[in-house]
Amino acid sequence: ATILASSLAAIPVSASSPSVSDDFTAIWSRQQAEKVKLTSENTAPEVDMNFDLVAPDQWVWDTWPLQNRDGSLATIKGYKVAFALVAPRTYGWGERHTHARIGMFYSKNGKDWTYAGVPYNTDKALGHHQWAGTAMLDEKGKVNLFYTAVTDMNANGGKEWNEDNWVLRAEQRIATASFDIVADKEGIRLTNEGEHKIILEADGKYYETIEQFQKHGNIISAFRDPFFFQDPNTGKEYIIFEGQSPNTTVKPENIGDEEYRKTHSVPDRAQYYNGNIGIAEVLDHDVTKLKLLPPLIESVGTNHQLERPHVVVNGDEYYLFTISHTFTYAPGLTGPDGVYGFYGKGGLRADYKPMNESGLVIGNPANNPYQAYSWLVLPNQQVISFINEPRDANGNVQFAGTFNATVKVNLNGDKSEVGKEGKAGEIKPFGANR
Ligand code: FRU
Repeated sequence: ATILASSLAAIPVSASSPSVSDDFTAIWSRQQAEKVKLTSENTAPEVDMNFDLVAPDQWVWDTWPLQNRDGSLATIKGYKVAFALVAPRTYGWGERHTHARIGMFYSKNGKDWTYAGVPYNTDKALGHHQWAGTAMLDEKGKVNLFYTAVTDMNANGGKEWNEDNWVLRAEQRIATASFDIVADKEGIRLTNEGEHKIILEADGKYYETIEQFQKHGNIISAFRDPFFFQDPNTGKEYIIFEGQSPNTTVKPENIGDEEYRKTHSVPDRAQYYNGNIGIAEVLDHDVTKLKLLPPLIESVGTNHQLERPHVVVNGDEYYLFTISHTFTYAPGLTGPDGVYGFYGKGGLRADYKPMNESGLVIGNPANNPYQAYSWLVLPNQQVISFINEPRDANGNVQFAGTFNATVKVNLNGDKSEVGKEGKAGEIKPFGANR
């Protein structure tokens, strides 16, 4: 508590600015990201190498629970339900991304999970493959799945000719489909599959299209990872997602404050590290009509990917979380694979400031930098993730692809601290720790 009081005093009033304009986009600057550092408060616990495979014949990565419309954890006749990206282990570890489907899991106790397979018709689903999303159970008992429909990245050898160079083809669009959910003695399954629909596409104004991306390239384009969110303070609904800015110019604000700018020079190509966190307002009850709004935050010049963005609300405090990688930091900057957080006050559109001054909330330890990934902070501050590429006792990298142990993160204003560890894949009822 002492740390909190003293650091709060040092933060300018704008950290809790209650009113910003509707088109305000917060910034994660180079100056802020330069402060990213592993400490005892933000380093993830070491992965236990005695892990079980939650679905032995599948690679399992990005995971999300079935949530009610208000974000609380849904239960279906006493079962918890989770979804995760899956691909058969017959494909290589690196190949899994281009063969990804969404698998379903269920559990009575939130710790031991049964894999129920891919719950939808892969011929009806959109995209060559499907990437991350969220799942919302509405008041009629329908499961609304939101996911990323991705084009075939391997078509034409994975590249496409665009004016004067070969560029990666991986167009992403945001899709939805609804289902009924049945629980009986055979377990849990989805039935009555609705039509799969595209609900969001990059507009080229706030969010970079694949054609705009192809002009400059850089890692991979992004318009993905929809997160359904109902704001408890206003009742309004949104889809929040990972995007990239079409404005690939590092503005003074992207660098830092005036003092910092006097001495900091921005390395070449930093402008193509143009991540942002996108938002669209939901206009209808079925979540099929949406309106794109300006991004909540951007990291142009700082980081290329703000993946799987999600929100946790505590009264009038808004925590905007996102996962990011070492390799997606712009030249001249670095940080661990981890979950990063931004703190805003008074509303969803806020003057977000990086938590702990840098943004880092949980990062992989320096001696095991790729052990886990894709952290998702649930409303009760329990954080789920998957075991990625941990090093064994001999220092050899293992490809894991299974649920990681849950970890608690303690949020205290704009500060956080990694707390107690739970069981692999454990999802406690929301609110349990509040
Ligand atoms: C995060 C992520 C997501 C994407 C998926 C692709 O781990 O990169 O952004 O949906 O994995 O496999």
